[in-house]
Amino acid sequence: MNEKMNRMEFLKSLGLKGASLFAVYCAASGLSSCINESMDPTLPPGTGGNANELTLDLNEPTYSKLNTTGNYVTVSGIVIARISETAFAAVTQVCSHEGKRKVYFRSGEFYCPEHGARFDAAGVGLNSEGRKGLKTYQTQLAGTTLKVIL
Ligand code: FES
Repeated sequence: MNEKMNRMEFLKSLGLKGASLFAVYCAASGLSSCINESMDPTLPPGTGGNANELTLDLNEPTYSKLNTTGNYVTVSGIVIARISETAFAAVTQVCSHEGKRKVYFRSGEFYCPEHGARFDAAGVGLNSEGRKGLKTYQTQLAGTTLKVIL
């Protein structure tokens, strides 16, 4: 267990919970950016949500490229692409061909470089390697906040 976890466990042992634990933990850690402990600690700043959704702030430098059609980001094993002025597509990064975690977005489609599987923006296979398709996720844009429903 690392030092951070020990500190968290220590604070928990004092009986602090939820928001107060969060506040004390952030202050004690001296972190410039602090995320809710319920989230994956590897998620970059500007990422929020709960177990059922991923929330991306498109004003954050990490995600601002999603403001331009044709760009994509990969967050927690999900590839999220801006496919038009008004639409996004989100799919698993894990290729259905042989399970490689290599799928990315290029030229308007999802692609796995391992053996060349191709999928359209709806996750439908475009060649024999991609015939099993990709798991897709719904997306919702509200202002500059993009939600991916898990
Ligand atoms: S694992 Fe992706 S194309 Fe084979």
